[in-house]
Amino acid sequence: MEIIRAEKMGFCFGVKKAVETCYEVAKTTNGKKYILGMVVHNKDVVKEMESIGFKVVEEDDILKEKDSLEKGDTVIIRAHGTTYEVINKLRNKEVKLYDATCVFVDRIKEILIERQEAGDEIIFIGDKNHPEVKGIISFGKNINVFKNLEELKGSSLNTSKNYSVLTQTTLNKEKFLEIKEYLQKHYSNAQIFDRICGATSERQDATKKLAKITDIVIVIGDLNSSNSKKLLEVALASNPNSYLIQNENELDLSIFHENMRVGITAGASTPEEIIKKIENKIRGNFNV
Ligand code: F3S
Repeated sequence: MEIIRAEKMGFCFGVKKAVETCYEVAKTTNGKKYILGMVVHNKDVVKEMESIGFKVVEEDDILKEKDSLEKGDTVIIRAHGTTYEVINKLRNKEVKLYDATCVFVDRIKEILIERQEAGDEIIFIGDKNHPEVKGIISFGKNINVFKNLEELKGSSLNTSKNYSVLTQTTLNKEKFLEIKEYLQKHYSNAQIFDRICGATSERQDATKKLAKITDIVIVIGDLNSSNSKKLLEVALASNPNSYLIQNENELDLSIFHENMRVGITAGASTPEEIIKKIENKIRGNFNV
């Protein structure tokens, strides 16, 4: 057996920064500390944060004023960011806010505000239920959100309006290029911003490469993480023997055999410790 890791995998820049912010705040701040939702999209990371003194406060509870936040408590905004309404509520509560929103998410939000102020209508491509998307679009008004090219094709865009097209950071690059090609062909009045995060496409490209040269691909990441699910999609397209697992307890050793080339990749919110535990479990069982 041979184990091959993807050239790019695991924690991205924004997630690493958000987790570091939590450790820093845990060391330097007394009093009650909260993270807003999951600081990153990984349950094991959230558990680790709870073990160093953080509690999770949910956006919905803040919006419904059902939270137990008090003046002076500390709240960290996660890498995906949050909505305009939640930030306002938090400011009104006079909590100490640490904004760990990834700079790439922030930049999309800034472009959206700039272009809307300039008079453009905004087309946003992404999952409208994803916290990142909910957060970004909350800073604009009447944003048209489309999940994919099919949904976009079904809409009635106006050829006389100016559109700015923005996307979720984790959008699949190939899907983005399809959308770009369609818009360029039919709507010269649409200005397209390519703000897909480099970390995402690098991990997707590396996974594609890995899936082609291995017999089995193990994608490690949270089952609810959008970028981990996309890595699985990419892996499956080249290698049907691909699986998404969250941690070593979910590893089914019966899917491996001695002469396999095993590919390992991980989503941008998967910590190295989890990757190592899985890799070691395979190595331990097959003497690699
Ligand atoms: Fe930021 Fe990209 Fe990670 S947008 S949070 S560096 S996947």
